[in-house]
Amino acid sequence: MTGTDTTKQGFMLDEAAQGVIGTPMDRPDGPLKVSGAATYAHEWNLPGTAHGVLVRATIAHGRLDHVNATSIADIDGLLGVYSGPRFLRNPAQGGAEEAPVQGVDIEYFGQPVALVVAETFEAARDGAMRIQLRMEADDSGVFDPANSPAEPQEDEALEQGDLDQAMQDAAHAIDVTYTTPGHNSAAMEPHCSIAHWQDGRLTLRGSYQMLKYNKMELADALDIDPARVRVLSPYVGGGFGSKLGLAPEALAAAIAARDLDRPVVVALSRQQVFEVVMRRSESTQRVRLAASEDGTLTGLGHSGLVSNLPGESFAEPLLQATRFLYGGQNRTLSLGLSRVNRLCAGSVRAPGEAIGMQVLENAMDELACAADIDPVELRLRNIPERHPETGIPFASRKLAQALQQGAESFGWNRRQTQTGACREGEWLIGMGMATAARVNWLSKSAARVTLKTDGTALVETDMTDIGTGTYAILTQIAAEMLGLTPGAVTTTLGDTDLPAAAGSGGSWGASSSGSSVFLACQEIRKDIARQMGCTPEDLTLKNGTAVCGNRSTPLTDLLTRDVCREATVKPDKAMKDKQSASYGAHFCEVAVNAVTGETRVRRMLGVFGAGRILNEKTARSQCIGAMTWGIGMALHEDLMFDLRDGHLTNRDLAEYHIPVNLDVPHQDVIFIEERDDDASPIQAKGLGELGICGAAAAVTNAIYNACGVRVREYPATVDKII
Ligand code: MOS
Repeated sequence: MTGTDTTKQGFMLDEAAQGVIGTPMDRPDGPLKVSGAATYAHEWNLPGTAHGVLVRATIAHGRLDHVNATSIADIDGLLGVYSGPRFLRNPAQGGAEEAPVQGVDIEYFGQPVALVVAETFEAARDGAMRIQLRMEADDSGVFDPANSPAEPQEDEALEQGDLDQAMQDAAHAIDVTYTTPGHNSAAMEPHCSIAHWQDGRLTLRGSYQMLKYNKMELADALDIDPARVRVLSPYVGGGFGSKLGLAPEALAAAIAARDLDRPVVVALSRQQVFEVVMRRSESTQRVRLAASEDGTLTGLGHSGLVSNLPGESFAEPLLQATRFLYGGQNRTLSLGLSRVNRLCAGSVRAPGEAIGMQVLENAMDELACAADIDPVELRLRNIPERHPETGIPFASRKLAQALQQGAESFGWNRRQTQTGACREGEWLIGMGMATAARVNWLSKSAARVTLKTDGTALVETDMTDIGTGTYAILTQIAAEMLGLTPGAVTTTLGDTDLPAAAGSGGSWGASSSGSSVFLACQEIRKDIARQMGCTPEDLTLKNGTAVCGNRSTPLTDLLTRDVCREATVKPDKAMKDKQSASYGAHFCEVAVNAVTGETRVRRMLGVFGAGRILNEKTARSQCIGAMTWGIGMALHEDLMFDLRDGHLTNRDLAEYHIPVNLDVPHQDVIFIEERDDDASPIQAKGLGELGICGAAAAVTNAIYNACGVRVREYPATVDKII
């Protein structure tokens, strides 16, 4: 997009003749999904498929010395047992490293160490349960992050001005420490991979988020040319970060399938998803806020401690929004990473902001109370003019509008300032709010669009739809640009033989892949304009017809052959000159039972500004899902590890509590009209993760308002409230 006039491009979509963009169109893939016709990972049923089941370590630190396959030799239909250093760890974030073959190091409880393959799933599972492992425990394992020295993350550290002095001089000073627990992505569709080798080429079918990266990961782990790997993932039942990288079953399936020369499927059970995929790190966070009498921040400190496996580089970047969200000249930021023998920590929805803003927004609420300033007003007073660290300007930012419009729509003025002041029988009612912010990225992405002589179009890219609505928005963009009905456009996704897309992650999927489709369609429009003898600016495409001035020609008459164009969008260098983020505000009303301490969320409102909204329905669903997770983060979700031996005690959806229907009240979502010329050619910004950022804090701030209890150790379960 460098050198192109993006304002002109975006204007083009607003002026487009079809009016398809942005509308709440149903997902074209919806009927396939609800009728079972969409092929999810486990549903390919390739002839001759063998079944593999992972065998996992039952110690959290030590070595696997021996796998005794003869112990299960009696099993009918047993095809093979595979083990070795490749099962070492989840390669989700750091790439799949090789280790010397001298036994297998065990670094966390439940780590995959072998794969049993058999003719049937039942036989493989029988083998995996009965196989004998000889493991040597090593008592130097660290199971409690508190017992591991934190490695300072230099890139995250900031010392600006003198925060200690600012805290001393402040009219109002807040110094609070919160803890947040680990989370599991718990996507509805468990991870599953089917590997199939034909003529030295591997096809991997499964459930993944970022296919071009997954292809490279697999090629790297197997030490083969990436050109020999094809990854297919047309339908994905949720990812939330857990499918950004390959989970251990993919490589295990590929190794076994190569050896057996037949397709091998390996699916994770729900327990295995919890134990091997990857977690959001727990955190300890200290926030210091120094403010003058009127609530203006003079200083801000945020220090965090997160954990990961030894050797892993990912450290949940929980300072990400703190850096730029609020002013305050004197700033101290730091992040530490401790090493712990728990499963790999990685990206879980809105890595960084999800838990960083949760705590920052609680601390802001504490400041609002201490200074006796309305929480909305406190935020409005602290929106900085320029980036408080770097001084660069902000790109589009609808924070003030979101705060104001949210307060208005929610009826915020009915909130009682005094805690415990609003009572209905046993129930104490309270309102809380929080800011939402999530950094915005554009990521390199390619797509191919073909306009056919029959007046239909085909969109092709290896982009994924992880439930986000990619099929819908890419169909809408192509239909809008080419003057077709959405029904005349077919979108094909999830195949690495197609142009490489950004993948679904970091909220960049829609703006990046959407822009590539937009740019490819622009090229097609130029071709059509040439055939019509006019400039692209003077061309209107509508209802399958090309219109120039007073001339009008149906595309089916105009086109003598298919027009096929491929385009790639890349991040513009100019993007770096501005702080780009999506913004919003959360409002929440809770009822806290004064007898039992239970919290019922009564209503929630999210107001969001994320650039052009491409499909009002799928965008809204993203926000509702994210806000629901916010309820879970506030009240329920908590990965609990046994500090004696490192095992995860709540490894399924019976024990790891997520919000169910009765926990989720009516939720409203309001989108603020916004166009961002810097963000992407289609003027859209990231949305998928925005709704989780700050959501949990709105819930717990409401709990405080209701009953005066400030829970600083998440989640806010009844025992901490009563
Ligand atoms: Mo996201 S946690 O980058 O899928």
